[in-house]
Amino acid sequence: MHRFLIPLFVLLSSAAAHAAPGPRVASPDGTIVVELATDNDGRPAYAVSRKGQPVIASSRLGFLLLDAPKFERNIEIVQPRTRTFDETWEQPWGERRLIRNHYNELTVTLKEKAKPFRSFDVVFRVFDDGVGFRYRFPKQSGLEQVKISEELTEFSLARDATAWWILAGEWNREEYLYHRTPVQQVGDAQTPITFRFEDGTHLSIHEAALVDYSGMNLTRVEDRKLKADLTPGIGEGKVVLAAPFHTPWRTLLLSDDAAGLAMSSLTLNLNEPNTLGDVSWVKPMKYVGVWWEMHLDLKSWASGPKHGATNENVRKHIDFAAKHGFGGVLVEGWNVGWDGDWFGNGEDFSFTQSYPDFDLEALSRYARSKGVVLIGHHETSGNAAHYEEQMGDAFDLYQRVGVPAVKTGYVADASQAKVTGTDGKRHYAWHEGQDMARHHLKVVTEAAKRQIAVNPHEPIKDSGLRRTYPNWITREGARGMEFSAWGQPGNPPEHEANLVFTRLLAGPMDYTPGIFGMKTRSTDGIATTWAKQLSLYVVIYSPLQMAADLLENYEKNPAPFQFIKDVPVDWDDTRVLNGEVGDYVTIARKERGGDNWYLGALTDEDGRTLSVPLTFLDEGRRYTAQIYRDGDKAHWKTAPQDIVIEERSVARGDTLTLKLAPGGGQAIRFVAQ
Ligand code: NOJ
Ligand code: CA
Repeated sequence: MHRFLIPLFVLLSSAAAHAAPGPRVASPDGTIVVELATDNDGRPAYAVSRKGQPVIASSRLGFLLLDAPKFERNIEIVQPRTRTFDETWEQPWGERRLIRNHYNELTVTLKEKAKPFRSFDVVFRVFDDGVGFRYRFPKQSGLEQVKISEELTEFSLARDATAWWILAGEWNREEYLYHRTPVQQVGDAQTPITFRFEDGTHLSIHEAALVDYSGMNLTRVEDRKLKADLTPGIGEGKVVLAAPFHTPWRTLLLSDDAAGLAMSSLTLNLNEPNTLGDVSWVKPMKYVGVWWEMHLDLKSWASGPKHGATNENVRKHIDFAAKHGFGGVLVEGWNVGWDGDWFGNGEDFSFTQSYPDFDLEALSRYARSKGVVLIGHHETSGNAAHYEEQMGDAFDLYQRVGVPAVKTGYVADASQAKVTGTDGKRHYAWHEGQDMARHHLKVVTEAAKRQIAVNPHEPIKDSGLRRTYPNWITREGARGMEFSAWGQPGNPPEHEANLVFTRLLAGPMDYTPGIFGMKTRSTDGIATTWAKQLSLYVVIYSPLQMAADLLENYEKNPAPFQFIKDVPVDWDDTRVLNGEVGDYVTIARKERGGDNWYLGALTDEDGRTLSVPLTFLDEGRRYTAQIYRDGDKAHWKTAPQDIVIEERSVARGDTLTLKLAPGGGQAIRFVAQ
């Protein structure tokens, strides 16, 4: 426990001259140390080091409250108590089956030194791969209802670092391309935000268990110092809660390299165990859909001559899914409400009434007769208030006709969602405010009562709640493939290599890969090779994974399509083999309940050669590697279709040399012999 004996505050704190060193706690392996202290003004702060090097310098803890004195100064740290926890738990579905949850915990009470002697607790959990901490407000007189106007939590980076981040507060929510800047150029940023220090240490700041609280952004207040910037609420106070309550966990993932960040299960570990009981009804699956054709403007969500969700078109998709082994068919534009100005409005949507050329019950029956299910769709246009009025009936309908999963949508500018306040009136709301956090959990729990899984687009950020609510199966929450379908700059070749080490650290994403038809409404089309499209099925983890292209593009290209048919969506194990943020990554995964391994590697706009030792393969057996690689001429811009499909026999201990084209990738299926 006590490998690093010099008090961190002596090393780290600009206020060190006055700091009174306080309690400390180290990770089980001793490499990460968290130390608490107060300065001469009684301002509480924490600091973090890893392998003896400072990572987070003295950083403030506290709150500004409405209608009550602040919690910031004249505070003392009392009653430190520690415990150790170590268990291994099983995911019902996931990127790995077993997860070890091993940490040392330190809880302290932060108490006012003067009347009225109010207090709150801070709990630190220190893992070998990072730190989580959260505040707990006990019930006490004068603080029955707490209105938080600012959370003062700081994250003061101890050293210079490169940052990968997207702006917070912009109209398009989480759907932005990542900036790469020195930490000193970070503005108001969303989380997860990722940093690389000059010695190669990587740090990702995010949050876990975002329940009944506002999502946290980070704003840079000076030099390398970031501060929590809670999403506004719908009235006074960014968060309003009755004590006792606790905040979400503030998380710091720490690793020697980028790959280590993507291996972490810390966010899941900080969430509560499954509360839904038997969730065998939550089925990971691949799906096709009446979808890409709308984004290419070949079909419409609205009724009329271009309507996509017709009985005939849906049956065609069901037949295709059944023939090629897909579990689901997503149908968008099936319900009344798309004909007017639906974007950011949502008042016209009915979640129970189909357009006349779409027979929900008959199509669901038809699908089930072929071993396929329909995936429902509820676009709300951010109007959560309107949706909640119909939600019970809508889920009852899906349960009755046998639709076991629903994709929801919240297409509205940031701050233009709508919720019902305690006054019973509708209020504009931010997508990540406390009221929307409540809304999303309501959707998930109401859906769970009907054994329906939920996949929100334009969602609240992922904070690992799939552990507690395993029917919260995936979500969007970043720039998806759809951007490359539209008539504006699509996703550039480095986008997915950014996502893996930023947004995807939070959890699964419904990115919708698998596009072979490279000509779209975007000038650059899809900025990847075909082999890279295949690699996305392994690299981007999502238990609902779409084969997003037009069916005809798969029918015309059966050879590369075979990989999409073969690749699983549920895994026993995951190994991130290499990677650099925004440059490249290689991930291997073992299928759930089977012997085969899969590998995906992808690169940004630079071609590169990666040497990959097959250390993950099981000992003592041979595998047929079915390789889908970029051809010699492959290039995302000039020759995306140049793909070579070949086989070779391999075993653990062999090393493969992966040659990735500019904007390229490689996908491999290792079939156990
Ligand atoms: C945006 C979603 O990301 C997309 O998948 C969906 O098709 C549209 N909204 C319409 O709901
Ligand atoms: Ca979207």
